[in-house]
Amino acid sequence: MWGGRFAAGPASIMREINASIPFDKRLWKQDIAGSKAHVAMLAKQGIVDGEDAQAITEGLNRIAMEYEADGVPVDLDLEDIHMVTESRLADLIGPAAGRLHTARSRNDQVATDFRLWVRDAMDEVDAGLAALQDALLKRAEEHADAVMPGFTHLQSAQPVTLGHHLMAYHEMIRRDRSRFADARVRMNECPLGAAALAGTGFPIDRHATAAALGFAKPTDNSLDSVSDRDFALDYLMAATQVALHLSRLAEEFIIWASQPFGFVKLPDAYSTGSSIMPQKRNPDAAELVRGHAGRIMGCMNALCVTMKGLPLAYSKDMQDDKPPVFEAHDLLGLSIAAMTGMIETVTFRTDRMRALAESGFATATDLADWLVREADVPFREAHHITGRAVAAAEETGTPLADLPIDTLKAIDPRIDERIYAVLTVDASVASRKSHGGTAPDQVRERIAQARREKEA
Ligand code: ARG
Repeated sequence: MWGGRFAAGPASIMREINASIPFDKRLWKQDIAGSKAHVAMLAKQGIVDGEDAQAITEGLNRIAMEYEADGVPVDLDLEDIHMVTESRLADLIGPAAGRLHTARSRNDQVATDFRLWVRDAMDEVDAGLAALQDALLKRAEEHADAVMPGFTHLQSAQPVTLGHHLMAYHEMIRRDRSRFADARVRMNECPLGAAALAGTGFPIDRHATAAALGFAKPTDNSLDSVSDRDFALDYLMAATQVALHLSRLAEEFIIWASQPFGFVKLPDAYSTGSSIMPQKRNPDAAELVRGHAGRIMGCMNALCVTMKGLPLAYSKDMQDDKPPVFEAHDLLGLSIAAMTGMIETVTFRTDRMRALAESGFATATDLADWLVREADVPFREAHHITGRAVAAAEETGTPLADLPIDTLKAIDPRIDERIYAVLTVDASVASRKSHGGTAPDQVRERIAQARREKEA
């Protein structure tokens, strides 16, 4: 395709290092859509005559059918998806195929194809995340009242509800979706027509091709159009953020499924056994979600480092933009689907959660707050008094709520029987009615609001 000025062909290792067809064949649909939009515009502008344009369009349609049926042939000599398709077009329609590349370069072609692909990828991820949110909402609603220990430093801190805990992830995913939505708006400009780097002397209509491909407008600087991959990085950064969130949820499932916790029974469908230890039920899916997050971050890092320091405009380094995006997208799709499946089917052992919440002195803050509220004790002093009550409970091995009133009065005479009303875990969660707090009514309200937001 470009051999005119060369006397010798490439070394076999050159062929191999140069070829992107083994991976960029994934862009074939976008490549054909871009070419069809381009040739239709060329015909409309009188740059290619109608007959040739029709032959090219029909040839491209036929190639799409061939790729659909048999896959894209991987011919390293033809380098990439653009050349493979153009060469097949020449087989099919002869020399007229050569007119397709008028007023275009592979540089703007690949930038266009890849944007189209990433745009679809973002829509796919968004649909997956919406399903994950639905699963979280459903399980949160089911468990809006279920008390569990809330942790800081993985130490029992204050009681919360399981519904509240699950809804925390719903919030994270809501922001993750908005990151993709922002990125989608930003990337939805069409680079086609930027040509190699400087634009073209042909009277092309960039607005027409942009509209035909569903872009909001053409890009405004030809150099930028062919040399930036920030749209792919936006995708990878948003994907990283999702993976990071999913890995925390995965980690919690792994901890919760351990025997000492026993907060969940992971579904059979998302667990594996051991070939030697018959009692085992391993949380492999959750572990792989946690593991894949590392790889997704690696993909993001890979593209950052590829792009860092590249002079304008196109350099071949940029061909390496695609493998990390494809890899991250595949890993993310699996992770979202696996996590959604786990959320939908996991058994929450709410009796066990409640028992642990009751045993961990998690209502100590409620005792201190009561002293502040009912006995006008300064909070620091209340904190100290409560610390002594916890020590007494620990010594006798009883929950705070079971300490005899005499023991409590001996610690501080301002305590009276009314204290027992705040020492239960149910009273504790019910009292946390501040906006965004864990009180079951608050949680239910947030669930209802989230449903309304989704419908709007
Ligand atoms: N396969 C190339 C890529 O993915 C297409 C662009 C090639 N452009 C060039 N001037 N060699 O980046």
